[in-house]
Amino acid sequence: MGDRAGGDRAAAGGSRTDAGRDGVSLDVNGRVHALKLPRSTPLLTVLRNDLELNGPKFGCGLGECGACAVLIDGASVRACVLTVGHVAGSRIVTLEGLGSLERPHPIQRAFIDAQAAQCGYCLNGMIIATKSLLDRNPEPNDAQIRDALRYHLCRCGTHVEILAAVRVAAKLLAAERGSSR
Ligand code: FES
Repeated sequence: MGDRAGGDRAAAGGSRTDAGRDGVSLDVNGRVHALKLPRSTPLLTVLRNDLELNGPKFGCGLGECGACAVLIDGASVRACVLTVGHVAGSRIVTLEGLGSLERPHPIQRAFIDAQAAQCGYCLNGMIIATKSLLDRNPEPNDAQIRDALRYHLCRCGTHVEILAAVRVAAKLLAAERGSSR
């Protein structure tokens, strides 16, 4: 994280404005945003309030529930407990960066097909964690899936459907890889 902060400091010119705002450059879903705000601002706040990316949800605000997860350089992390100063210079991907209503990502399609939601509040985190898992392990076994989703809380009790959705997602992605060969 130290390098990331250093890179951002260079981009910001190393100085605070009179209003206590810093220049922070965030690469989100392939677009670079130049923002003026305190470096201590939580990433989740900026994503939701400034960039209007509402896929990541505010749940606990303490890094416990996983509702706010985003991908930072491919790893699933909790945006509520990271400041923009820590992630400037990193590649940030939110749920919106995976797919769209018209063209859902295979993982999103799998969650829809498996009907893996009741209230849906946890799904952002579940899908982001699944993306991170399947990128590094395309054929996870059940224990590995459970481990990857272990600290993502679902209060509705759709765990069985969520596990099924991850298995479906792995199959859909495998089929895509096969058809692109
Ligand atoms: Fe970030 Fe709960 S809102 S982990």
